[in-house]
Amino acid sequence: MLEEVLKQEAKKIAKKYKIGENEVLEKLKAEGENTKEGKKEFKKLLKKVKKNIYYELRTYKRKEGHISILERDPYLEKLLSNIDGELKSAKSIIDVGGGMFPITFPFEKYPNINKYVWIDKDKTSYRKLKSKFGKMEKLVLFNHKVGEQPWSYYGENFDVALLLKFVPVISRQEKHLLKIVSEIPAKQIVITGNKEALTKRADIKYREDKIIRNFIAKTGRKITKSFDIGNEFGYVI
Ligand SMILES: C[S@@+](CC[C@H](N)C(=O)[O-])C[C@H]1O[C@@H](n2cnc3c(N)ncnc32)[C@H](O)[C@@H]1O
Repeated sequence: MLEEVLKQEAKKIAKKYKIGENEVLEKLKAEGENTKEGKKEFKKLLKKVKKNIYYELRTYKRKEGHISILERDPYLEKLLSNIDGELKSAKSIIDVGGGMFPITFPFEKYPNINKYVWIDKDKTSYRKLKSKFGKMEKLVLFNHKVGEQPWSYYGENFDVALLLKFVPVISRQEKHLLKIVSEIPAKQIVITGNKEALTKRADIKYREDKIIRNFIAKTGRKITKSFDIGNEFGYVI
């Protein structure tokens, strides 16, 4: 009987969080050993296990560092094919909050690009990219926070700016920087957002889309293309 109840609860939790049913069941059983009987206690147990799962997923993902890249991996080709035209004709790119994106970027496919400026505040990504691409002249890496230098410091009139999974992050964490981001000197901007949350299996497209559309309104630009790929969606403006 109890096993059945636990299984059902595990199923529910696994539906909500990005974790397998069996793994949840193990956790429920382990935690359940120290739990007294009773409805109230059982509720407490569920709450505790959910909380642990949430924090475990968060820390695991944060430690991973490359999470955006991993999440995108199955959809990278789709993302690139949606902005292929823009990339093919671009000579200069500015990738803001670029994370580890250059690792997966097929530079050989876009020989026209002679300058790819990367800006990100994350030291670990910077170090990794520096050691991998240190000798690649066209990739210029700045371990900066947005706003640390005026845009002109990085160059003028870029052909394409990449704001991949970046605008919603800034909107949540450093809203005051949105205005600066909206003034990025680029002919075209590619903006994307997540459709799935980090820990929960919830669809967050609606929420992220609202943030991105507000941002687009700030830039005063028009949407020239929109796309939806796997767990990411975006616009060219
Ligand atoms: C969700 S990741 C996206 C990474 C990459 N654009 C991609 O799509 O794979 C967001 C990135 O923004 C960077 N970031 C957040 N706030 C920043 C800021 N104020 N200035 C520069 N980079 C920032 C983070 O370090 C992180 O690498």
